[in-house]
Amino acid sequence: MGVLSALVDQLNPVTQRLAQQSTPVLVFGGIFAFCVITTVLNIIQQLLFVDSNKPPVVFHIFPFFGSTINYGIDPYKFFFACQEKYGDTFTFILLGRKMTVYLGPKGNDFIFNGKLSQVCAEEAYTHLTTPVFGTDVVYDCPNHKLMDQKRFMKFGLTSETFRAYVPLIIEEVETYLKNSPLFSARKGPVDLLAVIPELTIFTASRTLQGKEIRKGFTGEVAGLYHDLDAGFTPMNFMFPWFPFPQNKRRDAAQRKMAQTYMDIITKRRAAAARGKQPEEKDMIWNLMNQKYKDGTVVPDKEIAHMMIALLMAGQHTSMATMTWILLHLASRPDVVQDLYEEQLRIFGKDLEPLTYESLGELTLHNYVIKETLRIHPPLHSIMRKVKSPMRVPNTHWVIPDNHYLMAAPGVSAIDGKYFKNPTAYDPYRWAGEKVTIEEEEEKFDFGYGLVSKGTSSPYLPFGAGRHRCIGEQFANVQLGTLLAMFVRLLKMNLPDGQKEPAPPDYASLIAMPQRPATMIYEWRKPEKK
Ligand code: HEM
Repeated sequence: MGVLSALVDQLNPVTQRLAQQSTPVLVFGGIFAFCVITTVLNIIQQLLFVDSNKPPVVFHIFPFFGSTINYGIDPYKFFFACQEKYGDTFTFILLGRKMTVYLGPKGNDFIFNGKLSQVCAEEAYTHLTTPVFGTDVVYDCPNHKLMDQKRFMKFGLTSETFRAYVPLIIEEVETYLKNSPLFSARKGPVDLLAVIPELTIFTASRTLQGKEIRKGFTGEVAGLYHDLDAGFTPMNFMFPWFPFPQNKRRDAAQRKMAQTYMDIITKRRAAAARGKQPEEKDMIWNLMNQKYKDGTVVPDKEIAHMMIALLMAGQHTSMATMTWILLHLASRPDVVQDLYEEQLRIFGKDLEPLTYESLGELTLHNYVIKETLRIHPPLHSIMRKVKSPMRVPNTHWVIPDNHYLMAAPGVSAIDGKYFKNPTAYDPYRWAGEKVTIEEEEEKFDFGYGLVSKGTSSPYLPFGAGRHRCIGEQFANVQLGTLLAMFVRLLKMNLPDGQKEPAPPDYASLIAMPQRPATMIYEWRKPEKK
């Protein structure tokens, strides 16, 4: 016994050392074995246990990650490949979430016009949007409250306000282009991704957001906006709370930005109490004068958060669209020439100033905006959380309530079933081709005015149903004025040897062109610069 215990005593340090050394090996070995087993089970499950009562699942090797990479690299390529294999309805795994996609006009209708008891946008988006916009607005409140908030916002987007906005946008563009060192030569290359984000934010802030916020964009507000914007990343669908440095900066910027709006509101209320009339009736002014349906006055904090929501919702979408417009025009000098001639016809050879009314007469300009939104709708995927099981019409499939729904109206917008030569950039198509367009669609009031239900349109860049965009008219005024000003002032081309605009980059939530998005500008009248 004595020998044995002496031997055990001697061996003890050796076994302990071995156990210490092998702990990481055991842990990694265990994790590896777990991954292999779950991967194998995932594959077996897909091959042998197909649930015929649910839409087909896109085949994937790894559980949790599923089709995340294929979808993330190029959502359209992924959608079209799946459509060919599985049809219009299929489910794929996106970072552990079961996303059921339903393509085509019927799918758009199914998702956009799903009943409130069945689909919910709040649960699909709130993780991403609430830390940026703030609480109690948009997706951080019940749907009926959002409908009320959209009603308030629409009151601030009338023909009267747009009429006042056009000269303000013109002034911003002229000042910017004439003073920017980026346009100082008679002719030269310019990176549109350095120019258009600034121009869109300056024009949106000068109009919708009001004078004070526009002034702020030459100082502190620009930095706050930048930090808020950095919080808008796909990663935050999963980890909005994670203390990444950019999330900490986002939260600080949200508080400061909201305070900036609240200070403006306080000053304006004090001025009104002294009997001072507002200088301009912008969106802040409009929201300060609204009441919820139950009679409650809109709290200042909610006004501030709605203003942030409007800033963010409009900035990315308009900026992406304007960049694509200019890149496509740079690839089509023939279209630029036709646009210039359209302006000469309407405004005379001295090109009278643009007005809100005259924007409506610029038919080809409007076709250019429409065609750009057909090929590059900024939002490629629109999501809802399923709240109660939904049967897919004319099938035996039922989508369970642990799934998310995904609509992709950009797919039908480039489908040969609805548009001839669908991937060609051809603004003139809108003059001839017969397309079911929204104006002919059934309309419904969800609480913020009549909107199209979009039940059979293959072209829905602004969505449809209760969550339809309220910013379409503003976007058209902003984009139309910017476009007309660029055409008036500049000729545009792509760099030598480049025939097509840069391809899309889907790394962010909005489909932007890949860098560098270079355009060659040439002043039409350099002496007037
Ligand atoms: C909603 C597109 C500009 C404010 C939407 C939706 C789309 C869209 C597709 C529906 C989202 C969904 O169903 O989940 C666009 C495009 C724009 C644009 C293509 C420009 C080219 C703007 C502007 C503003 C704005 C300038 C603000 C002034 C909103 C708001 C919603 C919305 C408040 C409502 C969200 C909801 O009800 O859930 N937009 N948008 N948008 N948009 Fe826009």
